[in-house]
Formats: sequence, C-alpha cells, structure tokens
Amino acid sequence: MDRGTSFFKSSPATLPVLAAVLALAIFLLDTLTLLDSAVAILYVLVVLLAANFTSRNGILWIAAGCAALTLLSYVVSHGLGTVAAFLRCMMSLSAIGLSTFLVLKIQDSETVLREQAELLNQTHDTIFVRDMNDCITYWNRGAEEMYGWFKEEANGTISHDLLKTIFPDSVKNIYATLLQTGRWEGELVHATRNGTQVVVASRWALQKDPHGRPISILETNNDISERKRAEDALRRSEAYLAGAQRLSHTGSIYWNVRSGEVFWSEESYRLVGVDPATPATMALLFERIHPDERTLVRGALDELAQGRDSVDLEFRLLPSERSVKVVHFVGQAFVEDDGSRAVIGAGMDITETKLASDALHALQAELAHVSRVATLGELSASIAHEVNQPLGAIVTNAEAALRWLDRAVPEVEEARGAIGDIVADARRATQVVLRMRAFARKADPEKAALDIGTLVQEVVQLVQRELSHHRVVLQMDLAPTLPRVLGDRIQLQQVILNLLVNGIQATSSVADRARLLQLGSRLDDEGHVLVVVTDSGTGISADVIERLFQPFFTTKRDGMGMGLSICRSIIDAHDGRIWASSKPGEGATFSFMLPAIAEPAATSSPG
Ligand SMILES: Nc1ncnc2c1ncn2[C@@H]1O[C@H](COP(=O)(O)OP(=O)(O)OP(=O)(O)O)[C@@H](O)[C@H]1O
Ligand SMILES: [Mg+2]
Repeated sequence: MDRGTSFFKSSPATLPVLAAVLALAIFLLDTLTLLDSAVAILYVLVVLLAANFTSRNGILWIAAGCAALTLLSYVVSHGLGTVAAFLRCMMSLSAIGLSTFLVLKIQDSETVLREQAELLNQTHDTIFVRDMNDCITYWNRGAEEMYGWFKEEANGTISHDLLKTIFPDSVKNIYATLLQTGRWEGELVHATRNGTQVVVASRWALQKDPHGRPISILETNNDISERKRAEDALRRSEAYLAGAQRLSHTGSIYWNVRSGEVFWSEESYRLVGVDPATPATMALLFERIHPDERTLVRGALDELAQGRDSVDLEFRLLPSERSVKVVHFVGQAFVEDDGSRAVIGAGMDITETKLASDALHALQAELAHVSRVATLGELSASIAHEVNQPLGAIVTNAEAALRWLDRAVPEVEEARGAIGDIVADARRATQVVLRMRAFARKADPEKAALDIGTLVQEVVQLVQRELSHHRVVLQMDLAPTLPRVLGDRIQLQQVILNLLVNGIQATSSVADRARLLQLGSRLDDEGHVLVVVTDSGTGISADVIERLFQPFFTTKRDGMGMGLSICRSIIDAHDGRIWASSKPGEGATFSFMLPAIAEPAATSSPG
C-alpha cells in the first residue's frame, strides 16, 4: 500500500497546494461572510487531505494550523461574540481534533500492517496470498526471487495459471481438505518465469472473515528441488547397491564395537534367514552360524575389535533348519569420527561355487585315478619285469638251496644263505605289488609331510624297464636334504610319473644324439622345493607350448592328452606351480615347485 490514508486520489505533489488553497478558502469564507453556520468544520477536509501527503507530525502541525485559523476567524469576525458563535467555534475545533485523532489512529494501524507485510518480505520462504478465485493479491520478495515475477506482474493473475501448478492429487480433493480443515500441505511442482520446474513443499492456510466465510488463501512454498534430487539420487544408489548385493549374493554388515550398534543390508537378512523387520544383533548372527564355526568367527571378530585391520574367512550359515550356506566373509576395521572402533564386512554366498568346485574336485580325482590306471596299463611290461625279477631270483635261490640240502652232507649254512636271499627277494616283490596297489587304489586325497627324494625314488622304480627298453639314460641329481612338502603321496607320484613317461616318449624317437633324461630336485631362490625333469627329446614348438596343459591336448596317436592337465590340477591343489620350457629340436624341461613346510630347525646341542 502507498503512504498515507487514501481518502483522495491525486498526485502527491498537488495535494499540499490543494490543502493550502482549501484552508485559505475556508478561512476567507469563515472570516469575511457572516454565515450563521460552523464553516470551520470544513477544516476537517484539510486534515484528511494532509493524511495523504505528510507524516504524523505534519498532520499534527496542519491540524494545529487549522485550529488557529478557526480561532483567528472567530476573534476577527465576532469579537467576543455571541454564545451561538462561540459554540460553533467550539464545534469546529472539536471536529478538527476528532478527525485528527482518527486520521492518526488509522495511520498507526496502517504502519503496523506495513511493518508486518515488510516482515513477510524478509523471510526466505515464498509467500503469496490469493483470493477464493485464485487471483493473487499479495506476492512477497521470496516469491519474486524464486519465481522471477515482480509483485506488480504477479498481482491480479491466477496463481495456478501463472505457475503451471502440477498437483499431487485432484484439485477438488485438495480444496475440499482446505475448506474442511482450514489447511493443506503437500508437494507441488511449479514452473518459474524461465520455464524451470521446481518442486516445492507447499502449505496453504485459509483466511476467513468475521462471519466465517473464506476470503483468501495464504500459500507458503519452500523449494525442495535440490533435496528431492539428492533424495532421488540416494534412493537410486541404494537401489543399485541392493540390486548388486542381490545379484552377487553379497550381504554387508556394520558393527560398532563400543556401542554394539549393528546394521545388516537387505541381502544380509536374506543370507542369515531372518525377517528384515527383526532388529539385527550380533547374537542373532551367531545363532545362525554353524556351531562348529562359531569359535572361528568369534575369534576373527574379536581380533578386529582389538586392533587387527582385516580378516578373510569362510564359514557356514544355517538360515533355516534344513539349509546350509557357505559364506566367504571379508571384514575390515576402522575408527569412527567419535573415536569408536567399528567393523564393516561383506559376506558372499559361495554355496553354489563351493558345490561346483567340490564336484569338480571329485571329477578331477576320478580322472586322475583313471589316468593312473591307464599309465599302469602302459607300464605293465615294466611292472611285470619288476615282479618277475625277484620271482626269478627266488626260483634260482630255492633250487640252489635244495641242491645244498640234497648233498650227502647237507650244506646247511649255504642253504640258509640262499633262503635268506629268497626272503629278501620275496619282500622286494611284495613291495612292488603293494606300491602298485596303492597307486591303482581310488582313495580320497590325504595330505602328509612328504620327502620329495623318497617319492622320486619310488616312481623311478616303476619306469626302470621303460627306460632300458627305449635305451634312455636317466641321470638323477637329488638334493640330499630338502625340507618336506605337504601333499598327497599318490597324487605327487602321479605328477612325477607323467613327466617321466612324457620324457621317455619324447626321447624314444631321437636317433642322432644321446637319449637322456635328467631328474633333479633342489631348493629354489624363494625356499620352495623344485623338481625339474629335462629330456633330450623332440622338444616343443612355440605354438604348442601354450596349450600343453589344456585337457585333451595331445600330439600323440594314442595319447589322451590328460597327463599334463592332471599334473597342473594336482600341483595347483598343492599351492604349487608347474611350467614347461623348451628349445625345439633339443629337448624340453618340465618344472614344478611346491611350498616347503616350515619345520623348526634341528637344534645342535653345544659340546
Ligand atoms: N617332454 C615332452 N617333450 C615334448 N613334448 C611333450 C613333452 N611332454 C608333453 N609333450 C607334449 O604335450 C602333449 C600333452 O601331454 P600330456 O601328457 O598331457 O598328454 P599325452 O602325453 O599326449 O597323453 P596322455 O594323456 O596319455 O599323457 C603331448 O601330446 C606332447 O605333444
Ligand atoms: Mg602324457
């Protein structure tokens, strides 16, 4: 609203002149004419005019001036005058005083209103008032800033047209709520002057006249577009995370060591087999861990709580009475802002992978067994020779013993010697048969501390005849003392046997140079036990060397192509490594290494 009470509509500059002219006219009329009426009452008009162009003090001065002119006229025209003239003068003065009082009062209340309206301009909130036809009647500075229209442009327009309001519900329902309760709250979408859409938290309050009739609506809006965007982004990223966790079967947990606060992701609830509405606790988690593994998990978490950085372990969960899940858990400790220690962890359900890898291991073991039996078949001539040799010796010695005893004077001592040899040969034959049986047996792998030298010696006996048959010379270079390795005897023998047989096969076609097979063992630079088989055979061409260890890769007419593939899976299962190198035309070298068992060094007693 403009300054002053607008009783008269005129340009502010002409109002003082008008007031002065009016005052002069009244004064002349009152002084010069002898009318029997209270002409001075007309000074009220001057006071009312003054309210339109001057302040509180100005009005008081002008009112005082009018009163002085009234008194002057009375004295000039009536002298001490009549009672009637005196009463008319008093009436005029009262009218001037009363109108001044009213004008000042109206101006005071207008000042209060103006100040209140100014307060509404100070707030950052967007506030506007619209009448019951949605026509804007008030538009604060916040609205100007947010929407881009000045109050002069916005006032008088229909708010929902101007702002292209998108309502969350039907307009009818919204107005019904407003009229019923006097209030409405919700989210609206508005368009600003430059066409940008903003999401606002909107509050409407209904204003009523003293008779309870609705007259206007006060609308307060807060721009929540940014918050909305952040919320949406957060919701999206949470959804992505939950989706990724579901896809990868990975649940995450948080545990604050000091406060005991625990958080599980949705997928964690699923893994543990607990309803997501149940509050997550460590006790509940432990309830679902397989009893055999609770101590393991508790120990790992205790270590994290006490200063260890991270843990990596596998354990079983029992989400329900009949199901078991294998979980690979990785946990990491960190310090929260408040100094408390906390743990975050991710547990991946690897049940299926585990089952598949168990099945794969079983298959591999089966295959290894088949291949062992096949190799024994190939070596049957050698084996027969190994057994035949002692049997032949036994027969010879038995015949000799009989002859010693058949003498006129039996040569008991000689016979005893021959029988002693028989026992030794029989033992040798038994050993060969026992070894064969062990080798051909289908048994679950069993790891023990093994001496590689002994293993090598036993295998070499199996190929002795194969070597001599193909006229291959075997040179052995075994380190006398090597740390032991943890492994399965039969499986490791199979590896060595496969390498020896391949070596013999590769050299058997060589005619222009010595057929040589070298078998060595030693400690490598990193302290691993290394076994190297080198032959002077055909060698391996560069394009083949890459594929040697693939299953069913063979260049032999009757080969299965499984020998090296089995070697690799056995060595892998022993945490070792196997590889080949070759100079084509000169021979090939196959090496494998196995981690040595860290055994306490033998203490040498002083003296
Ligand atoms: N010492 C070697 N010298 C040259 N080539 C070799 C040697 N050892 C292996 N190879 C090559 O690697 C291939 C794969 O060997 P692998 O032992 O896996 O199968 P295989 O000997 O062909 O058949 P089997 O399953 O009966 O052992 C061989 O066919 C051969 O081409
Ligand atoms: Mg082979």
